[in-house]
Amino acid sequence: MNKITVWFIKCAMVYFLAAVILGLYMLVSNTLYPYMPIHAHFNLLGWISMMIYGVAYHVLPRFSGKPLYSDRLAEWQFWFANIGLLGMSIGWLLSSWQENNKVLLLFAIIEVIAIVMFVINMFNTLKITQPIGK
Ligand code: HEM
Ligand code: HEM
Repeated sequence: MNKITVWFIKCAMVYFLAAVILGLYMLVSNTLYPYMPIHAHFNLLGWISMMIYGVAYHVLPRFSGKPLYSDRLAEWQFWFANIGLLGMSIGWLLSSWQENNKVLLLFAIIEVIAIVMFVINMFNTLKITQPIGK
């Protein structure tokens, strides 16, 4: 397994733990905001998406019979995905005591860039180089 796969899967599990602990805290303390979007996105962009990124980087090059298009892009994507998600969470925390949501917007853009990087890497890895049927 390459290091990006291992990094993503380990992070996915840390976000999963953090998300469910936050979910429990929301129940116990009876407070949804600003925790609900953090809980939701730790689960959806952290646990689920990062598990998928990690598994996809391992499995899809093997399905396509070609190496990953760019290991460097995958490494950058790892940092953008984590910085984006953590920054968005800080943005949500800040938004509970100030109107200004520039922090959330900035890190949301970083998260979107991470997703674009993943899509570019996957499309290029899966590109069909031979005509179908050959
Ligand atoms: C022990 C595990 C979990 C606990 C205690 C928990 C707790 C909660 C609570 C209290 C809410 C607020 C619900 C409300 O009153 O509107 C919530 C919302 C949410 N949870 Fe969890 N959750 C858990 C696991 C998960 C998992 C595994 C996922 C996804 C994979 C998830 C995704 C969501 C989402 C997307 C919302 C927002 C729903 C909405 O927008 O109405 N949760 N969770
Ligand atoms: C770059 C990626 C993403 C950004 C910038 C983003 C942004 C947001 C924002 C600003 C909200 C409103 C939160 C609030 O104020 O309550 C939201 C809610 C939500 N998003 Fe995302 N999102 C992203 C990715 C995703 C993905 C990949 C999923 C599902 C797989 C998802 C599922 C949800 C759900 C279920 C809610 C409602 C949760 C709640 O009410 O707290 N989001 N998202």
